[in-house]
Amino acid sequence: MYPLPLSLLLLILSFSFRVSSLQLSKCNKTEVTLIRDTELLTSLTLSNCSLSHLENAFFVRFDHLLHLELQHSGLSALDVFSLNGLTRLQYLSLSHNNLSTLRSWSSEPLGALTNLDLSHNRLSKLSARSFEPYPQLQQLDLRNNQINEIEEDSFYGLPHLKHLHLNGNQLQHLDGSFFRGLHRLSSLSVQHNLIDSIEMESFESNTHLRSLRLDQNLLSSLQFLSQRGLARLVHLNLSNNRVQKLEPLQFSKNFELQDLDLSFNNLTKLNKEALSGLDSLERLNISHNFVDTVDNESLNSLVTLLQIDVSFNRLITIPKSLFENNTQLEEIILANNQIGKLSPQTFHKQNHLRYLKLSGNALGEADFLQGLSPSLNSISLYVDLSTNRLKSVNLSSLLHFRYLNLANNNWNCAWLVANLVRKLPASVNFARPWTVINDWSKNITNIEGVDCSEGERNRSIILLDVSTLPHQKTGNCECGQTYDQSNPSPPPLTWPKIPTDRFDSRSVIIWMLVAIAIAFAGLRWLRRFVDRNEKSKLGNKLNNVYISKVQWQPVRNDLERS
Ligand SMILES: *[C@@H]1O[C@H](CO)[C@@H](O)[C@H](O)[C@H]1NC(C)=O
Ligand SMILES: *[C@@H]1O[C@H](CO)[C@@H](O)[C@H](O)[C@H]1NC(C)=O
Ligand SMILES: *[C@@H]1O[C@H](CO)[C@@H](O)[C@H](O)[C@H]1NC(C)=O
Ligand SMILES: *[C@@H]1O[C@H](CO)[C@@H](O)[C@H](O)[C@H]1NC(C)=O
Ligand SMILES: *[C@@H]1O[C@H](CO)[C@@H](O)[C@H](O)[C@H]1NC(C)=O
Ligand SMILES: *[C@@H]1O[C@H](CO)[C@@H](O)[C@H](O)[C@H]1NC(C)=O
Ligand SMILES: *[C@@H]1O[C@H](CO)[C@@H](O)[C@H](O)[C@H]1NC(C)=O
Ligand SMILES: *[C@@H]1O[C@H](CO)[C@@H](O)[C@H](O)[C@H]1NC(C)=O
Ligand SMILES: *[C@@H]1O[C@H](CO)[C@@H](O)[C@H](O)[C@H]1NC(C)=O
Ligand SMILES: *[C@@H]1O[C@H](CO)[C@@H](O)[C@H](O)[C@H]1NC(C)=O
Ligand SMILES: *[C@@H]1O[C@H](CO)[C@@H](O)[C@H](O)[C@H]1NC(C)=O
Repeated sequence: MYPLPLSLLLLILSFSFRVSSLQLSKCNKTEVTLIRDTELLTSLTLSNCSLSHLENAFFVRFDHLLHLELQHSGLSALDVFSLNGLTRLQYLSLSHNNLSTLRSWSSEPLGALTNLDLSHNRLSKLSARSFEPYPQLQQLDLRNNQINEIEEDSFYGLPHLKHLHLNGNQLQHLDGSFFRGLHRLSSLSVQHNLIDSIEMESFESNTHLRSLRLDQNLLSSLQFLSQRGLARLVHLNLSNNRVQKLEPLQFSKNFELQDLDLSFNNLTKLNKEALSGLDSLERLNISHNFVDTVDNESLNSLVTLLQIDVSFNRLITIPKSLFENNTQLEEIILANNQIGKLSPQTFHKQNHLRYLKLSGNALGEADFLQGLSPSLNSISLYVDLSTNRLKSVNLSSLLHFRYLNLANNNWNCAWLVANLVRKLPASVNFARPWTVINDWSKNITNIEGVDCSEGERNRSIILLDVSTLPHQKTGNCECGQTYDQSNPSPPPLTWPKIPTDRFDSRSVIIWMLVAIAIAFAGLRWLRRFVDRNEKSKLGNKLNNVYISKVQWQPVRNDLERS
């Protein structure tokens, strides 16, 4: 709480500099009535004050105000003429209060008001001609109230209204009469209500509507889309509804639509003509549905499509000519389906592809990547094949992508070791993160590991970057020797507790020995090579990544004893 003297001091100071804008918080009515020189004031913000009731003519002294905010102040009652005199006011916010009824609150229209914010109150009903006293309104925010009833002609007399927010209310139905006469309306937000039906004429007069948010409702039918009013729609969000089926030619009138979000619905199929007419569509999101069947011609008319997201569905295959006409595609997201195989022809028309996301499928081969368009600039391509069932891939053909994620596949161990030993570019990732606790520092260490399988068994390889491990230990640690450059031993990482059941401890020693042998042979060779050439520079430059197994304990003890 700012004490009164402080606020008053600020007030006096501010007016001695003839400021035109004043912000008060945690104030009370007395303090507001003490404000002087109000004819200079064009902006007044009162927040977290205690002002539950405004009397008639409360602001009459503030007739130069252009901007008035009265928020978080428990306002629940305004006398009928409490806003009298604010003839120049352009912006009024009474948000985050306790208003349950809406009146004009002024004997004359607030003829200059363009922006009215009544969000976060407790309004439950809009009555006819509620907003007639604000004829110049361009933006009206009624979000997060409890509106469940809108009388006919509630928005009467708002020919300039462009943005209307009704989201976060309790509307169950959109009537044909609600938005009648809002000829300039360009964006309408009615998401997060309980709407399960929309009358056919609902948007008939809203021919300038560009953006319509209907997400998080209970819609199952999209019949209303075929009305004339929605012909210029650009953004349509239908996410989180209950749409089960797209009727043929449903979108045939929405030929300016660029963004269509149908995620989190109950779609099971994409039929041949379900999306026809969407000549301008650039982004389509059908993620998180139950789609298992896609017609090979269902995307035919989407010739301007840039991005498609069909992740989290139930696709098992993709028709090889599905993307035949979508030559502009830059991002294809098919992650988290059950796709087992893709034809090399699937992506052969995409010259502009930049993201191909296929993680979380059941792909056993990556040979479809050989069928990418020859004119595609693969240096800018990001490919995610993580969490599939790949056993091996033809790495030489994949090394030039911008990024290639191969983590969490069913790698064949022999193939994997052979390919890990060979130095891979940083743009290829095999590893998934693992967390281990190492005895030696008692800290949790994040390391990287690769899983592979050999015959029936699953194994895990941990990648250790020796250069990042501290080489010296201190104090009472009984865990062995320091790093010895002439006779390098494994770094002192003892029996990590790896929280994974994939770990096969019996195979570890063999693997470790193999890996150590490889690594140390390499190191010896390197040392000899470096010694011969540049003796003095050997010191700190061993940045090799060792491939090794983690069970150090038995081996290290042996070394210690010897
Ligand atoms: C307004 O607050 C001041 C202290 O900040 C207090 O002295 C005064 O009594 C309060 N007025 C009312 C009407 O509560
Ligand atoms: C007013 O109160 C709200 C919630 O009680 C808080 O989030 C906000 O930060 C406060 N504002 C000021 C200026 O104290
Ligand atoms: C709003 O009004 C209700 C009842 O009218 C009351 O219980 C509640 O405390 C009020 N909230 C605030 C913030 O004043
Ligand atoms: C559609 O609405 C959801 C929330 O329901 C939001 O997460 C998503 O980003 C919106 N889509 C677009 C394209 O804006
Ligand atoms: C939509 O799918 C969800 C999840 O399967 C289900 O609970 C719900 O009943 C379905 N709704 C309709 C209308 O089919
Ligand atoms: C598609 O919608 C889902 C769910 O709203 C969202 O997580 C995802 O990011 C969207 N996809 C794109 C490409 O925006
Ligand atoms: C789609 O499949 C049908 C029958 O399966 C076939 O006749 C048609 O030629 C295919 N369309 C394309 C574009 O490949
Ligand atoms: C889209 O593909 C179909 C064949 O599948 C073809 O008949 C049609 O002309 C193509 N449309 C465009 C605009 O390329
Ligand atoms: C691997 O890819 C390269 C380059 O694309 C190709 O020349 C080679 O034949 C492929 N190897 C196999 C075994 O397919
Ligand atoms: C262990 O973790 C603590 C806190 O995260 C850190 O301050 C400390 O340096 C770490 N010790 C070692 C040896 O990494
Ligand atoms: C090996 O891993 C695969 C996939 O993670 C799993 O399905 C299989 O059951 C595992 N096999 C054994 C023997 O643990």
